[in-house]
Amino acid sequence: MNATGQGATIWLTGLPSAGKTTIARALATRLTGEGHRVEVLDGDEIREFLSAGLGFSRADRHTNVQRIGFVAQLLAAHGVKALVPVIAPYADSREAVRKRHQAAGTAYVEVHVATPVEICSERDVKGLYAKQAAGELSGLTGVDDPYEIPADPDLRIAAHEQTVEDSAAALHALLRDRGLL
Ligand SMILES: Nc1ncnc2c1ncn2[C@@H]1O[C@H](COP(=O)(O)OP(=O)(O)O)[C@@H](O)[C@H]1O
Ligand SMILES: [Mg+2]
Repeated sequence: MNATGQGATIWLTGLPSAGKTTIARALATRLTGEGHRVEVLDGDEIREFLSAGLGFSRADRHTNVQRIGFVAQLLAAHGVKALVPVIAPYADSREAVRKRHQAAGTAYVEVHVATPVEICSERDVKGLYAKQAAGELSGLTGVDDPYEIPADPDLRIAAHEQTVEDSAAALHALLRDRGLL
């Protein structure tokens, strides 16, 4: 079956520096090359615009995830593969996004990028772990703010135990299995 026009939201949840953005972009490149329409809704970029004014309280994190989920569903409903590398620390927020997709009959896949905090804090792409350790920042997900590990994701990848290409390939295989490619 050619499902080039089949939309779906693929949410990559995980700790800061887990590899969400890197894996999403690798998958995006591959899918685009195969002729799919792809959009990456990256948490950091979206916070500058769609989620401007929101902070990092539980309520604001929830609102952030709902807004991104809303846009992703609209895109997915129109045939786009919406890749969403966004922390989404709370299970109820993620569940609400899944329900919104289900209610609309739009495909939704949750991927846990399960790099452990020890490795994430060594990578520290944005220097957040160092700032938290130095007392310059508080409320860092997975350190002094909650990260609720997905209990039953569609896919959990030990992203630190394989290459970026391996992780992208695992997601690609999942999408193919689900009839989304
Ligand atoms: N196996 C791997 N999988 C994913 N990222 C990796 C891996 N090994 C090293 N990295 C690096 O880890 C960093 C992850 O950063 P990023 O993708 O921005 O994380 P996040 O979006 O989850 O905060 C990148 O610099 C990436 O190159
Ligand atoms: Mg990122």
